Amino acid sequence: MGTRCVLKCVHMPPNDRETWARRRAAFFDAMSAMGGGSPSPSPSAVAVLPSAPVFLRNSDVEHEYRQDSDFFYLTGFDEPDSVAVLDAQTRTTTLFVRPRDRDREVWDGPRAGVDGAREQFGADAAFVIGELAEKLPDLLQNRRRVHYRIGHDRKFDERFLAAVDRVRARSRTGVFAPTEIVDPGAILHEMRLRKSPGEIETMRQAARITREAHEGAMARARPGMREYEVEALLLDTFRRHGSERPAYGSIVGSGPNACVLHYRKNDRQIEEGDLLLIDAGCEFGYYASDVTRTFPVGRVFSKPQQAIYELVLEAQLDAIEASRIGTTLDAIHARSVAIVTRGLVRLGLLEGEVEKLIETGAYKRFFMHRTSHWLGMDVHDVGAYFIDGKARGLEPGMVLTVEPGIYIAPDEASVSAEWRGIGVRIEDDVLVTSSNPEVLTAGIPKTVQEVHRACAG
Ligand code: GLY
Ligand code: MN
Ligand code: MN
Repeated sequence: MGTRCVLKCVHMPPNDRETWARRRAAFFDAMSAMGGGSPSPSPSAVAVLPSAPVFLRNSDVEHEYRQDSDFFYLTGFDEPDSVAVLDAQTRTTTLFVRPRDRDREVWDGPRAGVDGAREQFGADAAFVIGELAEKLPDLLQNRRRVHYRIGHDRKFDERFLAAVDRVRARSRTGVFAPTEIVDPGAILHEMRLRKSPGEIETMRQAARITREAHEGAMARARPGMREYEVEALLLDTFRRHGSERPAYGSIVGSGPNACVLHYRKNDRQIEEGDLLLIDAGCEFGYYASDVTRTFPVGRVFSKPQQAIYELVLEAQLDAIEASRIGTTLDAIHARSVAIVTRGLVRLGLLEGEVEKLIETGAYKRFFMHRTSHWLGMDVHDVGAYFIDGKARGLEPGMVLTVEPGIYIAPDEASVSAEWRGIGVRIEDDVLVTSSNPEVLTAGIPKTVQEVHRACAG
């Protein structure tokens, strides 16, 4: 597998002071403009965002740390034990961060500290995290509304509510406490749903690395290998190209394991003629890619495998073509369901009228998941799917996955033996634009001929 020239170019994600400052400015604007249900149409507002907690694996060993996406989106700050307070009235950002600590830094590496929080990350004010209990009430007082995601981090909820209580206790001194707590996601997740040109470029880079990984896996997977050996090839490619981590646990399912939707053991020995379903994508610069390919190992597709593969491919290409302004994820899913159900009837795997099989959900025995989800900083990204109870229309800048699949359980008694144990999913990442959809993950072998060629090494 040769490394493409395009991957050698060092690409810097759009994570810099100007980007974070621009996002915070937009967040301030939206906080100030938010009306609805409050005593005044634009009440004074402040947002409190804690960093992701550290999870202990055992004794003093921690799970790999990854910053909370909302927190990172607004600050670019990737250290734990931090809190961002954003005041829409003064348009200032206060960061509470870990103090510099020579002894700890010997073990864990450098910390930004309060100076770094201001100088490198553009905070207007910074304090050590130990001062949060004392300072947070000052930042909350005389603000009507607090944007805080209650229930997301129960431990931090206690600290936040204690600060609100302290402000309430000051009421006789003439200050007032917030009367509204709202989810910052109502603003932030709408912002994150629509990707900027810089974010899209980062997602293209994540997609390029993931393409390289899938092509390498197709070229090198052989009968007799364990699924985890193929997983190792994927991870090797991700890391060699600067990806921080996989965007989710890689699924490498051979034979019957292709029918397990979130298969994770990845330890079976691959047999000649098996289908291998790989659902794996890297994270790059805090942005995810999410790709599935299914291919035969050691042989070309068998006739039944190819029939199912071509049916999934038909649905997938149709769904990509449909990913345009104004349509909805529900409508795209309905198209995939119709194609898959019609095809399953044609192949004799389902019996009856297509409309009835759709209406009763009979197709779900073989196609049991949705066709799409949002993609961005998180693999199942944020952003409302419904607005006022109605599926929302697609807009330029939104990124979705398109991933129909057909899974025939190894013990599926309603079909003849030749179909059993076949599992196929094909997944790409698609950017909605003002013209044609852009497949960010284009170029990863997908037609039967392309797959056969790629698997021949
Ligand atoms: N890889 C997770 C998904 O496709 O939704
Ligand atoms: Mn997906
Ligand atoms: Mn996937």
